[in-house]
Amino acid sequence: MSNVILIANWKMNPKTSVEAKKIFSGIQKDLVKMNGVDVCICAPTIFLPELSKLLKSKKVSLGVQDVFYEGTGAYTGQTSPEMVKPFKVTHTILGHSERRELGESNEFVARKVHYAVSKGMTVVLCVGERERTDEGGYFTFIRDELEAVLSGMKRADLKKIMIAYEPIWAIGKRAEEALDVTSLYEMVLFIRKILTEHFGRAPAQKVPILYGAAVKVDNAPQFIAEGGVNGLLVGSASLDPKQFIGISKAIVTKK
Ligand code: 13P
Repeated sequence: MSNVILIANWKMNPKTSVEAKKIFSGIQKDLVKMNGVDVCICAPTIFLPELSKLLKSKKVSLGVQDVFYEGTGAYTGQTSPEMVKPFKVTHTILGHSERRELGESNEFVARKVHYAVSKGMTVVLCVGERERTDEGGYFTFIRDELEAVLSGMKRADLKKIMIAYEPIWAIGKRAEEALDVTSLYEMVLFIRKILTEHFGRAPAQKVPILYGAAVKVDNAPQFIAEGGVNGLLVGSASLDPKQFIGISKAIVTKK
């Protein structure tokens, strides 16, 4: 059975590289003793040179929270896959709702995903609706977000993609306010169906699907055991090694 995937999205935290190193080392120290989980820490880009020096275990990898769709050029403020690669960065989150909120369109996200994949990065593509209504319009919303990326993608590139379903309304909330596990299972089936429509059953089955939004030690095991996901994308709880390791321990026993 494959390992559970656990991705940490530190967002724009912590404030200093000293703190970043402390959190990173705290997480790595306990993970080296643990089997059944693969962890990726998506840190602010500025901390990568320091964090990459601390990287010791194969169970931990380094990721970023965004990359641009060109290698170099007149793109003020952007960072390319080529620039982060020397710091042992293998993953990038793309299309996070907090970036979409700043104006990133589906097409813009798609362009970045295709470029990052072409440069050999593993992409954690985030999708998620702003709200849920009884009519189920959120399914169409998720379909549109996914199809913008998948329609321009080769089957071979699918190996480099993970889909993270993050309902925006649950991000930053308490464990009790996260999505219920039955609704998660339903959404996972829907995402697999879309993947299957585009690439066929066997390749679609291999794409890891993750859940993120209000993941804590209390609800994490149920998402893994009953939600049909292959892993979790953790925000605030990933900034506290004790909580993050707690989640790791809780989910490996639920595989
Ligand atoms: P929280 O875990 O803080 O709800 O954040 C979720 C998230 O946005 C991860 O990408």
